Amino acid sequence: MQTVRERPAARAQLADWQRQGRRVALVPTMGNLHAGHLGLVETARKSADRVVATIFVNPTQFVAGEDYDHYPRSEAADREQLEAAGTDLVFMPDVASMYPAGLEGHTEVRVPALDDVLCGEYRPGHFTGVATVVTKLLNMLRPDVALFGEKDYQQLLVIRRLVADLALDVDIEAVATQRERDGLAMSSRNAYLDADERVRAPQLYQLLSGIAQAIAAGERDFARLEREALVALHDGGWRPQYVAVRDAADLSVPTAASTALRVLGAAWLGRARLIDNVAVGAP
Ligand code: PAJ
Repeated sequence: MQTVRERPAARAQLADWQRQGRRVALVPTMGNLHAGHLGLVETARKSADRVVATIFVNPTQFVAGEDYDHYPRSEAADREQLEAAGTDLVFMPDVASMYPAGLEGHTEVRVPALDDVLCGEYRPGHFTGVATVVTKLLNMLRPDVALFGEKDYQQLLVIRRLVADLALDVDIEAVATQRERDGLAMSSRNAYLDADERVRAPQLYQLLSGIAQAIAAGERDFARLEREALVALHDGGWRPQYVAVRDAADLSVPTAASTALRVLGAAWLGRARLIDNVAVGAP
């Protein structure tokens, strides 16, 4: 596996592969890798001939007061895991090369249709930071396909939307959420949970799954389901932000015309802000 820190060298390698007719997949990450990330690499290996991962803890997607300075960094272990999973190249740019004009006043990509609901309401500016850095990575490297996890469902929709709106020539592939045996969605932030919180953490997934099952069984009072889940989280010692049944295509409040629904939630448990989501009607 090659490790590349300079953009021209990374782009040259991708261009080489593409000239040879190879399909190149991109897996963007912020490092501190776990099996959830490696699942993206595995899927990428199936849908492409070469897999490029990126590790960049993107400062502009952290809102003031969030964990940017403390975000776990584990470069050596990350590179080992990426190599073992079959990654061909890892691109690890520094902040100055990603933001040559500095962190204030740089050009931004904003997806207004999706950036002020759900997580966007609680993390103002977060999705602009994500949209901006993903656009930069796609432009710098120009992969044929880029993979994103359904774990971050709103992020996935933001990226699909910017790719469509800016006519970027890349396929976006979604990968199902990888979970621990007890259902907890894998996340770098699970490391913030203490032993007792870790035991309670699957409750978020259980509540969202319960709502999805109730809807699949015919329940139509979404507001009541959302309210009851918020109460259950409160009672379980969480500080919930939202539990919401939404149109899976654009996160709008469902109407009779909605063909697919998604149940999403975000809540603090101790020092960890956890998010999760499930499809309605999923097996
Ligand atoms: P990060 O949180 O490191 O996640 C990188 C990718 O892994 C994202 O596409 C995320 O959805 C996916 N992922 C994380 N946990 C997962 C799980 N349990 N199952 C499936 N996929 C999972 O998301 C980001 O970084 C950043 O916002 C980024 C897109 C890299 C832009 O900075």
